[in-house]
Amino acid sequence: MFRTGLSKYVFISRALRGESFSRGLSTQAGRLEGKVALITGAASGIGRETATKFINNGAKVVIADIQHQLGQYTAEELGPNASFISCDVTKESDISNAIDYTVSKHSKLDIMYNNAGVACKTAPSIVDLDLAVFDRVMDINVRGVIAGIKHASRVMIPQRTGSILCTSSVTGLMGGLSQHTYSVSKCAIIGIVKSLAAELCKYGIRVNCISPFAIATPLSVHEMCRLFPGIDGQRVIEIVQNSGALEGAICEESDVANAALYLASDEAKYVSGHNLVVDGGFTTFKSFGFPAPDAVKNRV
Ligand SMILES: NC(=O)c1ccc[n+]([C@@H]2O[C@H](COP(=O)([O-])OP(=O)(O)OC[C@H]3O[C@@H](n4cnc5c(N)ncnc54)[C@H](O)[C@@H]3O)[C@@H](O)[C@H]2O)c1
Repeated sequence: MFRTGLSKYVFISRALRGESFSRGLSTQAGRLEGKVALITGAASGIGRETATKFINNGAKVVIADIQHQLGQYTAEELGPNASFISCDVTKESDISNAIDYTVSKHSKLDIMYNNAGVACKTAPSIVDLDLAVFDRVMDINVRGVIAGIKHASRVMIPQRTGSILCTSSVTGLMGGLSQHTYSVSKCAIIGIVKSLAAELCKYGIRVNCISPFAIATPLSVHEMCRLFPGIDGQRVIEIVQNSGALEGAICEESDVANAALYLASDEAKYVSGHNLVVDGGFTTFKSFGFPAPDAVKNRV
């Protein structure tokens, strides 16, 4: 319920800024013309934006998500080239059904985007880590991705082609950016991509992931509201948006959708096993903690 409420909050706040998730829907030929994509976690946030972008570029998209109502609504908003199937990525049978539904509806599967994921509420110290919560997050963020790749491969191997994408995170690249459980789950995605790319390349299947910086989606806004209790949603969105390194830009869902569009398209036909980091340079540097020159005096 809360997640749905937040989804609506972000949706409304974007709408107030004059934006729409279905903005720019067009029928002209695009970079994914004739392709069929299945995207998990596409009822909201990055997945929804990517579904929009893929459809704008000529693809047919199946939205697979655990949020039934929001998923149906998103599919209706995106028009006849979108459809929705209810899917909990922790249930292998749901993933398998979503793949079979896509193939029975569109006769093939060109793109599988394993994007569904959750943040986690675990204690900051390893000493206090609740391993039951750890297992639940791993079930969604890691096991769900493996199940998605397994069942997409079942269809793509006989096709001898396909593009598999996953969403990792900057928190999977560097320590200290989030709670251990989330960080570990996103680090695992980068390893999964390398391992699976090694096997699937001989069938012409490419496997890549994207590591975004923080974006104000329901996932991150929900998490930040917990860290800043009593602070209103709009202020929390500003905090997320002002946390980057690159001046003059904020990281948005469309930045990830553009990366996904490239990796899914034939423009990336020789790119596999890659982690495309979308972070405005954030993870490429650290600064020395030197004091300001005018704050330093010689010792006497
Ligand atoms: N927002 C960020 O700052 C950020 C940064 C880096 C990576 N990511 C990753 O991006 C991905 C998308 O997240 P988002 O930011 O768009 O958040 P979001 O909450 O808007 O979207 C996540 C979607 O996943 C769905 N989902 C959750 N559990 C599921 C399950 N068991 N089965 C099927 N669907 C399920 C949710 O219903 C939701 O629609 C996640 O993997 C997240 O970890 C997000």
